[in-house]
Formats: sequence, C-alpha cells, structure tokens
Amino acid sequence: MREATASAHANIAIAKYWGKADEAANLPAVPSVSMTLAALTTTTTVRFDASLGEDELILDGNVVQGKALHRVTALLDRVRARAGSSERAHVLTSNDFPTASGLASSASAFAALALAATAAAGLQVVAGEVSDLARRSSASAARSVLGGFVRLASAERGADFLAAEQVAPAGHWDVRVVIGVNAEGAKSVGSTDGMLHTQRTSPYYAAWVSLCPGLAKAVEEAIASRDIEALGEAAEHSALAMHASAMAAAPGVVYFNAATMACLQTVRELRRDGVPAYATMDAGPHVKVITLPEHVGVVDERMRATAGLVRTIVSKLGGPAVVRVSSAGP
Ligand code: DP6
Repeated sequence: MREATASAHANIAIAKYWGKADEAANLPAVPSVSMTLAALTTTTTVRFDASLGEDELILDGNVVQGKALHRVTALLDRVRARAGSSERAHVLTSNDFPTASGLASSASAFAALALAATAAAGLQVVAGEVSDLARRSSASAARSVLGGFVRLASAERGADFLAAEQVAPAGHWDVRVVIGVNAEGAKSVGSTDGMLHTQRTSPYYAAWVSLCPGLAKAVEEAIASRDIEALGEAAEHSALAMHASAMAAAPGVVYFNAATMACLQTVRELRRDGVPAYATMDAGPHVKVITLPEHVGVVDERMRATAGLVRTIVSKLGGPAVVRVSSAGP
C-alpha cells in the first residue's frame, strides 16, 4: 500500500473567476489571476486500500459524507481511471485555520487532494496535469497547485485540458494580504451555485464577462512592474464588479454584510491617508486587504478596529503545493 501526503495553500483571486464556459467540464468563462497565501494551508493524506468498500473522508477529525464526499470521489475516480485501479481510498484532511470561519477553501482542498491522490496512485504527473485535475473539481483549485502569482485562462466549451500557470514566483514581489474575518462567515451561498445563478439570471453577467480579460491583463502588467496601485485598483474593480453582477441576479446573491461595508470604508480611509490598501471579497462577507510589508501594521490595526470584525490573519505569498510519498502498513 502506498500513501501520499500533500499540502496546498489557499489563494486569493486578484482578477476573479465567476462564470463557467462549460458546467460539466468545469471550464471558466473568464481568465483569473491569483496570489497563493502562505498562511492558509490544507494538508491531505490519501491511501488507496483494496479492503475498503467505499472512499472515506475525514475532515479535521470528523467523518464527512454527502456532497463533499461525492466531490472527493469524483476526483478519485479520475485518478483511478488513469491508474487502471478500482481501489477505494482513505482521505484524511485538515486545515491549519478554523474550517468554520468561512475561509474553508475548496481551492487548497482540491489542490492538495489532486496532488496526494496522483502520488498515492503512483502516477507520474507534472504540475500542469495536477492543476487540470484539481480544476475539474473546483476551478480556483487549479491555481493553488502553483505558488506566487498564478493565472488560469478562460476556455472554450469542449476544451479537454486547462491548467493554471505561474505568472511570477512568490519571491518576485513581497505583497501581503490582511484577511479580515467577520462574524457570519460560514452561511453564504456556495461559489458554484452563486456563479451559475448569476450567469443564468443576471442582466449584468455579460458585462462582467466582457470586463474580465482587460482586468486580468492589467493585473499581470501590475505584477510585472510591481505597481501596487495598479494591482490594487484592478483587484477592487474585479471584486466589486463580480459582486455587482451577483447582486443583479434574480433573486440577488448578496454576500456582503454590515462588517463587509465597514471594512470597505476602512480600506478607503486608509487610502485617503496615503496607505496603499485595496479590498477584495470572494463568495462570502470577509474582506481581504492587499498591501505592502511596511504598511501591514497600520492596515491590520485599522481593520481590527472596524465594527463587526472578529479577527485578522496576515499572510505572505506562498509556494506551490508539495507532496511526500510513504509506504503504509500492513
Ligand atoms: C469568488 O473555484 O469555488 O472565489 O469551480 O464551481 O468550484 P467552482 O468554483 P470556485 O469559485 C471561486 C470563486 C471566487 C473567485 C476566484 O477564486 O477566482
């Protein structure tokens, strides 16, 4: 028996993915660019075992069944098909941040699972193949396979391969992210459901899709020239436009709460005071603030003083997903 343990970091999209070109193949309709976050890590061990009747999933010490287990089995089925095996797997996974905080990330989860599962199955794969495998489960997970600044292109319906690519390694530019965790983290509409509903019913979805290539290009240029103002402005524009398209769906998908708005206000006040601080929000109420190392102290302090904020997590950029293989008993 072989087992493999992989770790992958969460990532935060600077240019957001929101919308699918093909739902069944999980191909994004828009290009996205992200930063891999060192402070949020999922570690997953996969062991294929001929004696198991079904896949087993243990998350942070609890047995998980239902939809989450089905998504794991779907990824493992792809690995089994490729390895020519029918062995079920035991999957043990944990996050180094509270799962119930609403930061629980399908990105780090499926990146770690794809890497651990391919290694445990003895498949010889390169990072692009792991990224493509992770992308089929959750498109943002494709980006968490790589470190630093990462791009995932959009795709046409019918494409049979799409992997994320590194734009620049973490060492290229020391950007920091202050993650503001606010109270009602775990209760939002999931990102898959939220984006599908947006693309089916929002009159602003087409405008969003046409905006994205330009924003992704602006983000990549800002990374190349280490221009925090250009990066931050594109990041805020992408996040607010994504949320505006979701809010215009019928019925509207609203991820913001009062603390989200208060944090956005704080970020604008910081900028007024000359501090480079830019906000981005995913499918939840938390505000993540992009800044530079010398400004982390003041950004963190002002975020913590914002009404409704529970705590902050400060992150540097992280490296790629990593894996270790070992033989397991008996
Ligand atoms: C708002 O990758 O979770 O975080 O592919 O359906 O699993 P699926 O969606 P997912 O969506 C992430 C959306 C986002 C923006 C982003 O990370 O780019």
